[in-house]
Amino acid sequence: MVPALLLFALLRSTLTWASVDVDNKGQCLCNVLLPATTFPTHTMDRLDQTSVQISHTLELETSKVQGYESKLIIYTERLENLKLRVEEMEKDPNKMTELELENLKIEIKQVEALIAELRGSVQTSSPTFHILQAEIHNVTTSLTQLESYDKNKVLELRRKYAELQQDIVECEELQDESFTPEIGSCNHGGISNISMPYIVQLGAHVNEGYLYGGWGRDSKPKPGFEEMYWYSGYTSPYTYNLYLYSDYTNLLLRQQFKYFVNDYKGYGNNNIMHGNYYYYNCYNTGNLCRINATTFAVETRVLPDAAWNNKFSYSSATYQDFDFAADENGLWVIYATEASKGNMVLSKINVDAFSVEQTWVTNIFRRRVSNAFMVCGVLYATRQINLNIEEIFYKYDTKTGKESYISIPFNKQYEGFVYLDYNPADQRLYMYSKGYYIYYNVKFQKLQQQVEVSMYS
Ligand SMILES: *[C@@H]1O[C@H](CO)[C@@H](O)[C@H](O)[C@H]1NC(C)=O
Ligand SMILES: *[C@@H]1O[C@H](CO)[C@@H](O)[C@H](O)[C@H]1NC(C)=O
Ligand SMILES: *[C@@H]1O[C@H](CO)[C@@H](O)[C@H](O)[C@H]1NC(C)=O
Repeated sequence: MVPALLLFALLRSTLTWASVDVDNKGQCLCNVLLPATTFPTHTMDRLDQTSVQISHTLELETSKVQGYESKLIIYTERLENLKLRVEEMEKDPNKMTELELENLKIEIKQVEALIAELRGSVQTSSPTFHILQAEIHNVTTSLTQLESYDKNKVLELRRKYAELQQDIVECEELQDESFTPEIGSCNHGGISNISMPYIVQLGAHVNEGYLYGGWGRDSKPKPGFEEMYWYSGYTSPYTYNLYLYSDYTNLLLRQQFKYFVNDYKGYGNNNIMHGNYYYYNCYNTGNLCRINATTFAVETRVLPDAAWNNKFSYSSATYQDFDFAADENGLWVIYATEASKGNMVLSKINVDAFSVEQTWVTNIFRRRVSNAFMVCGVLYATRQINLNIEEIFYKYDTKTGKESYISIPFNKQYEGFVYLDYNPADQRLYMYSKGYYIYYNVKFQKLQQQVEVSMYS
């Protein structure tokens, strides 16, 4: 029970008016007078309602403003983008297309419409709008200028430019003596240039330690084996294995359809696939060996007087005493003899009889050469210029017996390489270097110049 005095004090502090009396039974009577209008209930109710309405309206307005804000951001970005594109077009009106111009016009209209919408709903004195309006004006002006650019003139310019380009290409082709003859054709003046190296991938062993090897395509494929690739590689300079791939894709996937190992051993790695035979220097002899890629049967022939056992190997690698090469005329072996004092000797092989048909002796010391190959009866020898550049520096023509020093440099990917051979079936040079398959396209000189360069404007 609350004591009367305390109750009185409480009432006194909060209410307008109060009195305490004692009735006839001696009981305290507490009288509190509350003014009827002290608390404006009605007003409060109204206020409440209004407040709810206002906050609702505010919410609506806020969301509207937020909507405009995000639109404004998007359109400002679009405007920036528009400006950049118009600038690009102004730099080079030739690049302008009808479609781009149409798109630009549509986008500018959209931006303009938004500006109008915003202006109607929000205070227009905002500085943001003034900047936006100025930007729109600028973009529109630029666009008008672009539109006034004579379209026919643009087209004509473009056509003229294309013609000029074509003239330049043709002129360059006429001046450039390089060309690619038909496969098998020797109607050219020899090698004129070598392309940049194409690095195919790490060889089948996926190991840079397999330094010694070779790869390529059969240089005179049997019907049905035109797409076949071969690879042979090892960690030391011996012929040790042979992988055959049905096509380029399977070479890349390292999915051989045939694989020989240990059935035979040979010296060196400058071997070749020719007419479904794999040719190499029989192990520990000066003999020629070939293996039938279908039956694995091995045949052997003596290569008269040939030096072997690393006697006159190439400067690029040891034990490369025999270098087999194929060209448009057939199969060759490049080696040296004691009688030639280590100078290069070249023999044409009759593949039917598997015998030496004819021999030529050059005046180039075999150990000076990093590698050699044959093209159309001409022997080409290379040497290292530096770590990155190799050079075809010497050639010997078996038709004339003439030899000469030349300079056709080409790029190497890696410093050392063991194998380099030309394939007449695709006019490419195949290289094996640091475990990688690499090839080059060969460019040829035109035989005679029946070229008449005429310039016109
Ligand atoms: C409009 O173009 C003029 C002249 O190129 C330039 O000075 C001005 O800054 C541009 N205004 C806007 C908002 O980009
Ligand atoms: C030879 O080929 C290389 C590599 O493609 C190229 O850079 C060079 O300009 C060519 N040289 C000539 C004389 O055509
Ligand atoms: C390999 O042997 C097969 C079967 O005896 C034979 O048909 C083929 O002519 C031989 N030579 C080559 C190069 O395949």
